[in-house]
Amino acid sequence: VTAKSIEDLPTPAVVVDLDVLERNIRSMAERALESGVRLRPHAKTHKVLEVGRKQLAAGAPGLTLAKTGEAEIFAAAGFTDLFLAYPIVGEEKARRLLALSDRCDIAVGVDSIDGALSLDRAFRAASRRLGVLLEIDCGLQRTGVLPSEALSVAARIGELPGLRLCGVFTHAGQAYLAENAQAAAAVARTEGDAAVQVAERLREAGHAIGEVSVGSTPTAREGMRVAGVTECRPGTYVYNDASQVSIGSCSPEDCALTIIATVVSVPARDRAVLDAGSKTLSSDPLWPKPGGHGFLVGRVSRIARLNEEHGVIAVAPGESFRVGERVAVLPNHACIVSNLHDQIHAARQGRIEEVWTVAARGAVT
Ligand SMILES: Cc1ncc(COP(=O)(O)O)c(C=O)c1O
Repeated sequence: VTAKSIEDLPTPAVVVDLDVLERNIRSMAERALESGVRLRPHAKTHKVLEVGRKQLAAGAPGLTLAKTGEAEIFAAAGFTDLFLAYPIVGEEKARRLLALSDRCDIAVGVDSIDGALSLDRAFRAASRRLGVLLEIDCGLQRTGVLPSEALSVAARIGELPGLRLCGVFTHAGQAYLAENAQAAAAVARTEGDAAVQVAERLREAGHAIGEVSVGSTPTAREGMRVAGVTECRPGTYVYNDASQVSIGSCSPEDCALTIIATVVSVPARDRAVLDAGSKTLSSDPLWPKPGGHGFLVGRVSRIARLNEEHGVIAVAPGESFRVGERVAVLPNHACIVSNLHDQIHAARQGRIEEVWTVAARGAVT
């Protein structure tokens, strides 16, 4: 029997509030338009074709993804403009990208000569060119070349006939350590400045750098405003989550995704247990400071610990829970929750309008 309302769903279940989702999509699209940048949302957050279509309908020219497998799924569904903001490496991936480039515009990240060479071979052999964006490290210390090294790496990439160096990109994930919106805005300016300055230097050296791509959800609004930035790639904004609330990049009312769970045990006055554990909520910490495993909507009590199938609530003084009661949880990190679930229930005012398949779930290669 298909549930018609959130109350009838077997738990745990993931629910997206369509009014909030559509408002989030609209408001980020409006900000991008005002700032004169293209919005290329990172679809890793939802991995859902229907959500991607809503983002394009709101004005995004295309989507960002991380994995070749994700691009294959979105391209097969008719998405024609994709960027893999990830260092794609190896000839097997290059062959798949070559096949993908028959059906859509695809560009990928590079941050090394070896990686670039491994992509070049397949495209050169086919007398084709793959668009690549050089990744810059603006402080996250994850992937990306340091700004000081960008010129020499770009010079080598520029010599490869199978590649076309068409842009630079960076991601200021360090904004997740920012304790308020002002601190995140300062990170956003550093992010934008790093990308714009490298792009300028590469242009002076003769590279045709079109795209200057930045973005995360905490830095999107401010990063878009940096002069010279052409594209922004926030992902989490579409759903938002408890970490975005803690960082100050949204309020709880902006969170579209919740997990509906049932209290299955109240073994002590100060302890209640949900039927949602790490397999449902993920064990990702709250940012910027650890603080339990998601917010219980309308409650002060926190989910203090998780096992795979148990979410253990430390019941706050003055609150109580009863067995059989249903609660809504704002997860710490929406993207990981998407990757844990086959289906998302899309609801408006409590009524389920659609059930979406998380089409690109688990496409990790
Ligand atoms: C390279 C890159 N760009 C964009 C994003 C989107 O950032 P956010 O999830 O903060 O919206 C991510 C997220 O991990 C990313 O790794």
